[in-house]
Amino acid sequence: MKLKIALLEGDGIGPEVVAQAVKCLQAVEETFNHQFSYENALIGAAAIDKKGTPLPNDTLGLCKKSDAILFGAIGSPKYDDDPDTQVRPEQGLLRLREELGLFANIRPVKVFPTLIDRSPLKKEIINTTDFIIYRELTGGIYFGEKKLSDDGSVASDLCEYSEKEINRITHLAFKAAKTRRKKLTLVDKANVLESSRLWRRVVAKVGESYPEVMLDFLFVDNAAMQIVLNPSQFDVILTENLFGDILSDESSVIGGSIGLLPSASIGSEYAMFEPIHGSYPQAEGKDIANPIACIFSAAMLLEHFGLKEESKAVIRAVNKSLKNNFVTPDLNKKSKYGTNHVGDFIAGNIVDADDILNL
Ligand code: IPM
Ligand code: MN
Repeated sequence: MKLKIALLEGDGIGPEVVAQAVKCLQAVEETFNHQFSYENALIGAAAIDKKGTPLPNDTLGLCKKSDAILFGAIGSPKYDDDPDTQVRPEQGLLRLREELGLFANIRPVKVFPTLIDRSPLKKEIINTTDFIIYRELTGGIYFGEKKLSDDGSVASDLCEYSEKEINRITHLAFKAAKTRRKKLTLVDKANVLESSRLWRRVVAKVGESYPEVMLDFLFVDNAAMQIVLNPSQFDVILTENLFGDILSDESSVIGGSIGLLPSASIGSEYAMFEPIHGSYPQAEGKDIANPIACIFSAAMLLEHFGLKEESKAVIRAVNKSLKNNFVTPDLNKKSKYGTNHVGDFIAGNIVDADDILNL
């Protein structure tokens, strides 16, 4: 298969982790005889520094003519420390999601048996965790009207959702639940928010077309508690933009490191794959960042294009690195392996399952 992949490395550890994911994609090309091409473009603080804007037009143009986008990370303390700044790196990512119509953000949460002791939660609570968050990504409070009074003393952000916006992601979430354990939990705040009550009505209506899927509803405060109390009760969690942002960071703790969680952002035309972690500026250039979340994001990219064996081969190679303790210091304080080493190890262990059988 031929694929044109746009690489948006972004800020902080972004370039380092994307480089490892590209090594893995190149190993997949060789092992499975595919031809992927890669082209880089600027986004985030790196783009502000060089071009004065967090999403330059040529970056958007490249994304639109690519089959998929692999994204690193965004954000820089240089801009975080100045709350009055008018341009922020994050605006690049938000505009990109909006311009490409990436309305569904899919974040799988799983526990790896080899890492079970790394989790701050008890083994018996987390060992069967396997759920997936469907986070709405182009609506809600992130994109509603923002206001600041003239004297700067009053501010507001509007949380707005339309039936159409809720409908399209709900169908995707139900379809995913159908192929899994057939349970969908809508997380909202319907006891307080009108927008949440609309979510409940629309999701319940869509649910009538998926009678084999059990649908339940949970208020977000309770959901935040249940995720650490009993995470294995969840199969598919469907939720709006801000709640999904918060709950996915919380969920990442279950597996022992946020450096493990990938995501896919899907729209009707474009698809982007990115680790859920941030730019981790303290680690920039130190060769300590965990590349696995970005490598798993590349595996999701492969799966998205129907390359299932290829995606499994990447996941197998990651599991091998975890089993052999070939990991970055976030997973093993005494580890002497860096981002590059781990990336090389994983890329070097990508093999076709047929070859394993023939060994
Ligand atoms: C994420 C990030 C982004 C978000 C930021 C960088 C704008 O936290 O992808 O989860 O809030 O969506
Ligand atoms: Mn986030």
